[in-house]
Parts: sequence; C-alpha cells; structure tokens
Amino acid sequence: MIAILGAMEEEVAPLLKTLGDYKEVKHANNTFYLANFKGKELVIAYSKIGKVNAALTATVMIEKFGATKLLFTGVAGALNENLKIGDMLYASSLVQHDLDITAFGHPYGYVPGTSIFMKSDVNLNALAAKIAKTKGINLLEGVIATGDQFVCNGERKEWIKTTFKADATEMEGASVALVCESLGVPFFILRAISDEAGGGAEFDFDEFLQSSANISADFVLSMVEEL
Ligand code: ADE
Repeated sequence: MIAILGAMEEEVAPLLKTLGDYKEVKHANNTFYLANFKGKELVIAYSKIGKVNAALTATVMIEKFGATKLLFTGVAGALNENLKIGDMLYASSLVQHDLDITAFGHPYGYVPGTSIFMKSDVNLNALAAKIAKTKGINLLEGVIATGDQFVCNGERKEWIKTTFKADATEMEGASVALVCESLGVPFFILRAISDEAGGGAEFDFDEFLQSSANISADFVLSMVEEL
C-alpha cells in the first residue's frame, strides 16, 4: 500500500481527478481515498493544514491502512532565490523551524530525543531524480523548513533561510518525516513553489496554488508507476 498525502484539497484533487475511480473511507475526522493505479494499491488523503493534522493523517495511513511508503505532494514558499514559482524540489532533509526551546540552551529545531534535521529516503529521492532526468524536468533537492506559520514576511523568511540553510518553507513536511521515521516507513516530500514567502506571498499563493499543486501531483503519480 502506497500513501499519497497532501495538506489541502487543491493539492490532492488533481490525483483523484486522474484516478477517476476510488472508494472513500471516513476515519479520524477525515476522508481516505482508496484506489488502484497501474496495479498499485493507493491510500490518498489531504490532512488539512499544519503539523498536527499532517502527523495524524500520516499515522493513520500507516497504522490503519498499512502504507509501507509515503509520498507527500503539495506547494511551498521559496527561500532559495534560485527557486521560482512552478519549480519543484524534494526534501533531502527537513526541520521544524518553529520548534524553540532555546531558552534551555538548545539549538532551534531541537528537542531532546529527536534530531534537528530528518533525512528522507535516498531510494525514493534517487527514483525521483531519475524520472525527472528522463522527462527533462528540472527537479531540485534541498532542505525544507516546516512550521505552523504561513511565511509572508521578509524578515522571518531570511531568519528561516539562514538559521537552517533551508531552501523552501511549508507547514507539514517535517511532521510527516518524524512520523514516517518513527514508524520505519520510507518517505518522499515533494513541493512545487507557489510563492516566495516574502511580503505579499499570500497573493502569489492564491494565484499559483492550483497550478503548482498540479505540477507536484502529476510528478508523484509518475513515481507510483515505477514503485
Ligand atoms: N506553503 C506555500 N507557501 C508557503 C509559505 N509562504 N509559508 C508556509 N507554507 C507555505
């Protein structure tokens, strides 16, 4: 069973549209879509925005639906100036930028019992790179910084970028990474850029959410074919 997770309806709707045929199962105040694609069993859901929702949904996909691999699809704000709206990147590692117990002398993003950065699965990342190369798609890899905050402020953007050497920011990836790592499930986090996370990013986000979500969703489905 392969899980495909997004945060927002817009991020998952393109998948359901392509699949056409699926079964709905309600659980934990959410809907899980079960489908078959090219002989592969899929469980698909949008978690709703934020780290807690994403962690809950990823856990359910693994523990209740038996997912043995998880692919995340969605959009992100660019921190690296080489990333433009519509570009795609996958996370080589992820960090929670809003996790802060620096008052006790710990670095940003760290709490005892965890590491600051979580690494995604090298095999899934290599598969993505191979598919991108074959299709002539420009796919970057980088650090994704996750937090319960829509970043639309130049100062906060610069802080996240320099503190964690992060390339993009979003609101779910690192929590999904933590769940998958804890439960021993290989994961892949893909994001297409919807905005540049500075002042006014909310306007770009509204304008480009759907087009960038479509780009990311198409790519994860092309990965499923090869799994
Ligand atoms: N997802 C897409 N753009 C984002 C931003 N600027 N901040 C947080 N999450 C995002």
